[in-house]
Amino acid sequence: MAGGRSDMVLIAFMQAQNCTNYPGSWRHPQAIPDFLSAEHYMRIARTLEEGKFHLAFFDDRLAMPDIFGNDHKLAVQWGIRSVKMDPVPLMTAMGLATKHLGIGGTCTTTYYEPFDVARTWMTLDHMIGGRAAWNVVTSMNDSEARNMGVDAHMDHDLRYDAADEFVECVLGHWQSWEDDALVVDTAPGGVFADPTKVHRIDYQGRFYKSRGPFTVPRSAQGQPVLIQAGQSGRGVQFAGRWGELVFASYRTIAQAKPMYRALKDAVAANGRNPDHVKVAPPVYPIVAETRAMAEEKRDFAHSLARPEDALCLLGEILNLDFTQWGLDDPIDSAVLDSMTGQHAIRDRIRQVSGKQNPTPRDFIEISKRGTIYEAPIFCGTPKDVADQMEEWYREEACDGFVVAATHRPGGYEEFSRLVVPELQRRGIYHKDYAGTTLRENLGLPPSVAKGPPTMKH
Ligand SMILES: Cc1cc2nc3c(=O)[nH]c(=O)nc-3n(C[C@H](O)[C@H](O)[C@H](O)COP(=O)(O)O)c2cc1C
Repeated sequence: MAGGRSDMVLIAFMQAQNCTNYPGSWRHPQAIPDFLSAEHYMRIARTLEEGKFHLAFFDDRLAMPDIFGNDHKLAVQWGIRSVKMDPVPLMTAMGLATKHLGIGGTCTTTYYEPFDVARTWMTLDHMIGGRAAWNVVTSMNDSEARNMGVDAHMDHDLRYDAADEFVECVLGHWQSWEDDALVVDTAPGGVFADPTKVHRIDYQGRFYKSRGPFTVPRSAQGQPVLIQAGQSGRGVQFAGRWGELVFASYRTIAQAKPMYRALKDAVAANGRNPDHVKVAPPVYPIVAETRAMAEEKRDFAHSLARPEDALCLLGEILNLDFTQWGLDDPIDSAVLDSMTGQHAIRDRIRQVSGKQNPTPRDFIEISKRGTIYEAPIFCGTPKDVADQMEEWYREEACDGFVVAATHRPGGYEEFSRLVVPELQRRGIYHKDYAGTTLRENLGLPPSVAKGPPTMKH
């Protein structure tokens, strides 16, 4: 414990694909290319558990990044985050290879039914002993829409309105078996479960309806932990309402501190305890025995990026086809104002460039999308890296970090072997897991089933 705060939280940023979130990572000579095998993910899971990571977390999208020129050629040819497996089987493999590591994954509210998601995630939570987490996202682009039988992606704020209902409905199902509903009395005449403690939810909203009763009882941690990463005004409101673990892209401590505070305020505004919500930005730690060696590793990793990567991946998250403009053409206000992709990044580019109509070059240079500079880089000796992490943590810029890897599995192995002992020595990171469930290990309060929901809209 540090000054009464709970320990720093560490999450590994995982991808169920050919690369880490750094698209150039598959070209790294130390990357092990068995990314289609369960062993690849199980090995990383064991490494993370040795490093006492709280959680391994999988990103997800339902399409290749093919908005750029409406063509998948570049994404496939250069492996620009082109493979995307379903995270759930990988999560199950990783959970079964470990005993304490939390296992989180992303599932969108825009293209599934609440009952599906409620059932898959609660089942997973049982299979891995109460260590599952669900990252609630609303998806990003028209390619995802088209893969899921829809012509265009729903408007940004409307997606969040629908997502509010979606989460209400999922939680309704998760809480519709009371905690002591399951009896399993094998004595003659003994009951399996108490029917008065298993409820239909009769959810009827504007976007979703679902009757129940739900078909999976409560798990060892009650229900999976909810992750969220909304960053626009509407997104932060949503994260403040639901997120128990919140991911936020911060570039510097100075930028992070007010945003971290605003997020905690959004939690309090929803009548929740801000200490029960952990906030973690993605970072790239790059560590070696000497600072010069670490800088060389950083520069080598950076050299693996290709020029195509940035605009392909910007197109993906903004839902904009950048082939429409020359690199220095201002992008029309009408296009930017009505875009259905992530608003947070658009707003940041406008703010940093000071332009209402930034150019594609502004987007590339400010976002640094597709490179390791997209997130803060903590580079140097184990002490250097720990110093930077400690500063962010102590300055209340965050409660922990989403650790991204320049290559796989080495990026996680080097961090666990070299940086984790240094953080532990400083007393800001746990030496062992506090309990057996993810909720216990994150220091979150127990989840209590509130019984029959009254949520007719
Ligand atoms: C660490 C991190 C991981 C994310 N993972 C996903 C993901 O897997 N799928 C997805 O559609 N969005 C993902 N997002 C995007 C967020 O859900 C959100 O859309 C984004 O931060 C922009 O905020 P906004 O939706 O409020 O505009 C992630 C964001 C962050 C910071």
